[in-house]
Amino acid sequence: KGLKAWAGRFGEETNRLVEAFTASVQFDQRLYSWDIQGSLAHCRTLQRAGILTATEAKTLIRGLEQVQAELDRKRFRFHPGDEDIHMAIERRLTELVGPVGGKLHTGRSRNDQVATDLRLYLRDMLATLRSRLEALQRAFVSQARANLGIVMPGYTHLQRAQPVLVSHHWLAYVEMLERDKGRLADALVRLNVMPLGSGALAGTNYPVDRQYTAQLLSFPAVSQNSLDAVSDRDFVVEVLAALAVLMMHLSRLSEELILWASQEFRFVDLPDRFCTGSSMMPQKKNPDVPELVRGKTGRVYGHLMGMLTTLKGLPLSYNRDMQEDKEALFDALDTAQASVEVLAELVQGLRVNRPVVEQAAEVGGMLATELADYLVLKGLPFRETHAIVGQIVRYCIEKRRELADLSLGELKRFAKQFEADVMERLTVQGAIERKSQTGGTGRQAVAARLVAWEKRLA
Ligand code: ARG
Repeated sequence: KGLKAWAGRFGEETNRLVEAFTASVQFDQRLYSWDIQGSLAHCRTLQRAGILTATEAKTLIRGLEQVQAELDRKRFRFHPGDEDIHMAIERRLTELVGPVGGKLHTGRSRNDQVATDLRLYLRDMLATLRSRLEALQRAFVSQARANLGIVMPGYTHLQRAQPVLVSHHWLAYVEMLERDKGRLADALVRLNVMPLGSGALAGTNYPVDRQYTAQLLSFPAVSQNSLDAVSDRDFVVEVLAALAVLMMHLSRLSEELILWASQEFRFVDLPDRFCTGSSMMPQKKNPDVPELVRGKTGRVYGHLMGMLTTLKGLPLSYNRDMQEDKEALFDALDTAQASVEVLAELVQGLRVNRPVVEQAAEVGGMLATELADYLVLKGLPFRETHAIVGQIVRYCIEKRRELADLSLGELKRFAKQFEADVMERLTVQGAIERKSQTGGTGRQAVAARLVAWEKRLA
């Protein structure tokens, strides 16, 4: 009882501290259904290779299904000696079906097994994440639809720059998230490769049909080098890197929401149900959700750097260091999934404070570029018009005036080329409409992109 599967060559029992220190079952048990999926395919492969009889394979398959049911129903009892989920499942299988359970691990190592499990797991997790990302994209698209036509100040350096449509701003996040989906899809291409049959490191002595195993597990390809297959965690790094970029996007969004919900900006109202209060200050309504997303971004970056560092000194092939991949990967995935999920609802529920953003778009000299471009149409070189309008802006600051309030007579003092038609240049709507090229903030261009996203995400 409690004897390890590998106890044969050992003269004494494992030290208790070592047992606890090396165990991964606390966190790798989440892989159980993918582990069993892999084992079922391995069983069928062994049977096809003539290593298991049909009866043996059937017994093992039934046993594995029963283990799966126990785990699904949380009836599975882990033993203190269960080192990882792979050993726990095999131990329980053998309890259920007897010594034939010992045949399951024929021609297999935990090294190719865990590599397979992780890939299977990630395939499913990435599909879930993808659909959550699409829900977040849809939330932005519905905000873009609801606010179409509303103008706000656009910023560079967090200084008022040029007016833009609120919808244009929301759709910028849809583009970012689309690239995130693309990065995850790229990672999927390289992780969708089947390692089973690599054994511990050198391959196996049994005539297994690896293509058959791959087919059973819907892998489009099998790994081509057993040493590489058991030591490769590139796919973990790639997923972590894609998640780090995704979190960076979510963090930038969060920063904007925090800023915009502040009383200094008041551009948006976050729904009460997405905010929290203060234990001391009764008036407070705090944006804790975006703050936490911004904070958790650091954690995901840390996992990426941690994983790269864990791998950098490892000789081929498998090393136990690699067991450290799981907590990093699981936590990064959990963090990203939860952040995307909560932000989707928050974005869906937020309200743009129309009078405030529209008023903000009218002030701050944001039409200066329009004025400079107007003089270009009158034949002056842009560098000159820039300088002229710079002086007009300074004049406005000194006189506490807005560009749009200047009279034609005042403008003519700076350049004789100003004519009556300049007045229609000095409107925010006009500034928006002139940005009509693809990708610009012109209403038509934004509406077209909005429709395209609505179709694509429907
Ligand atoms: N729990 C291990 C891991 O996650 C499984 C592989 C262990 N292999 C070994 N030879 N000790 O990496």
